[in-house]
Amino acid sequence: MKTPKRIEPLIEDGLVDEVLRPLMSGKEAAVYVVRCGKELRCAKVYKEANKRSFRQAAEYQEGRKVRNSRDARAMAKGSKFGRKETEDAWQNAEVAALFRLASAGVRVPKPFDFLEGVLLMEMICDEYGDAAPRLNDVTLEPDQAREYHAFLIQQIVLMLCTGLVHGDLSEFNVLLTPTGPVIIDLPQAVDAAGNNHAFSMLERDVGNMASYFGRFAPELKQTRYAREMWSYFEAGTLSPATVLTGVFADPDEIADVGSVLREIEAARLDEDRRQAGRAADDAPPGKTEEPPPPWMQ
Ligand SMILES: Nc1ncnc2c1ncn2[C@@H]1O[C@H](COP(=O)(O)OP(=O)(O)O)[C@@H](O)[C@H]1O
Ligand SMILES: [Mg+2]
Repeated sequence: MKTPKRIEPLIEDGLVDEVLRPLMSGKEAAVYVVRCGKELRCAKVYKEANKRSFRQAAEYQEGRKVRNSRDARAMAKGSKFGRKETEDAWQNAEVAALFRLASAGVRVPKPFDFLEGVLLMEMICDEYGDAAPRLNDVTLEPDQAREYHAFLIQQIVLMLCTGLVHGDLSEFNVLLTPTGPVIIDLPQAVDAAGNNHAFSMLERDVGNMASYFGRFAPELKQTRYAREMWSYFEAGTLSPATVLTGVFADPDEIADVGSVLREIEAARLDEDRRQAGRAADDAPPGKTEEPPPPWMQ
């Protein structure tokens, strides 16, 4: 096919020999199948910031490392230079996450290069060498669902051990190969320790996995892996070998019982006071409140 303009620099640099076909054009990027020597790879072309959607939201950017303090100041001020740096940091975040995760043993596409807003990576294939389907495109047996779910929980733990939360994990961002699931689409990956929203994003990622695989093995919907792994992470004891159960007794809930009881007691006292006030208002002038009956004194 005719080379898309954005991929031309990669051809000029000899990174890509030929663009074969478009694979998918999503909300964030267009993905092409390209030939590099004898290998097929994927080229992910990021859309311009103004064509991209919600995921640049501040909640994803928090805690993200910027190259130097001048860049950080410019980004904070939102100057023209700053906007460009925000844009670069955003596009590089996926590349950085892929390198980091691949070397930690997480199953993600192997990144090869990043040039002028185009990421060149391993093409994840099905048994025929075509692009692998997304989880959303397949139907699973209950046992397969349990196995893949357990594997992905383990992958989420590995990611957390390297300090990252995917932030947009769902059945649309996991590809299924003959040797198991592969996680893709990480430009919004967040810093687990530096971002205040990391836990809620982790909970959403883990919840998406439970509800997707729960379609085939309903008991998975009851699991609570996010809180369990986060409690180890916060205590600094999470490791790839940590054994998780999916069951989590929330200590907050026990504490909450106490606070609910206190609130009930406070409301009861308020009501008593109100009743007493009303009794005083109703009393004829000059006469104060009735003394309590002897059995209450
Ligand atoms: N490395 C890859 N190998 C095979 N298919 C891929 C690869 N990367 C992306 N795709 C396909 O392209 C689609 C869009 O890529 P993705 O990274 O999820 O970007 P978007 O932000 O547009 O969702 C994916 O749903 C998947 O079908
Ligand atoms: Mg996607």
